[in-house]
Amino acid sequence: MTNLELTPQLFTILSALIEERVGLSYAPADQALLAFKVSGRASEAGFESLLDYYYFLRYDPASEREFEALVNALVVNETFFFREFMPLQMAVTQFLLPLVNSGHTPRVWCAACSTGEEPLSFAMLLDQHGILSKVELVATDVSSAALERARSGRHSRRSLRQVPSPELVNKWLSVDDNEIRVPSQLSSAIDWRRVNLFDEAAVRGLGNFDLILCRNVLIYFRDQVVSTVVEFLKERLRIDGALLVGVSESLMRFGSVLECEERAGVFVYRKPRV
Ligand SMILES: C[S@@+](CC[C@H](N)C(=O)[O-])C[C@H]1O[C@@H](n2cnc3c(N)ncnc32)[C@H](O)[C@@H]1O
Repeated sequence: MTNLELTPQLFTILSALIEERVGLSYAPADQALLAFKVSGRASEAGFESLLDYYYFLRYDPASEREFEALVNALVVNETFFFREFMPLQMAVTQFLLPLVNSGHTPRVWCAACSTGEEPLSFAMLLDQHGILSKVELVATDVSSAALERARSGRHSRRSLRQVPSPELVNKWLSVDDNEIRVPSQLSSAIDWRRVNLFDEAAVRGLGNFDLILCRNVLIYFRDQVVSTVVEFLKERLRIDGALLVGVSESLMRFGSVLECEERAGVFVYRKPRV
């Protein structure tokens, strides 16, 4: 693969374009990494200079598919079954079961679902509590490649690195030496869609939710950008609805857009009444 030159000036405008469109932030220390990833894409698309590639992405209306391919190359899709499982259990027992028991059909949005292990684990939990058919589960990601994998029902062996519930694994996952398979019965309980968290209209089009999982993605964004996403997520939450972020992420420094409360040892952000 040809390594095309990424000058500091080009790094500045290219990283600004990426952040503006999908939020991903690159510090100057990431220049070599970005050069490597973008070079690969640009060469594959037939470009001999990264400046030409930049102009194409920025100004050519026909660049949408190439930008999608670049995003596929840039995002970090790291995820696995039952990741940060305790907060998911808490969300089911503390928020969703009471709603179902009071006659509602709760809506849940997994907002950066990567290759699907997170919403699939959540669907298993819902089934364990007998409410899978009574909850609407929407899973989205900006990466078309990740979603294709999610929909395929085939996952890498690395996707199963902790087993907090052997019962769920035995019921739902076929594990062999090479891969893990999920039955279509489970993945078809999820409405998979490609949505960029910065596409306000697309986010609005998803409707309102009782619970939003947006975990392990905000770490890739700068604070100012996180505020924009949190504002969009807040708009999508019903009153009293809850947002869960990753255990290493915190929204405390963003003030009072949402109210933080602790439930069963987990920090949850609630949409207040006013
Ligand atoms: C590290 S994975 C986290 C997956 C899962 N939520 C978890 O906790 O295991 C981060 C995901 O965020 C997605 N992502 C990054 N920027 C995004 C954006 N602007 N809109 C939607 N998804 C985005 C990436 O494609 C990637 O799949």
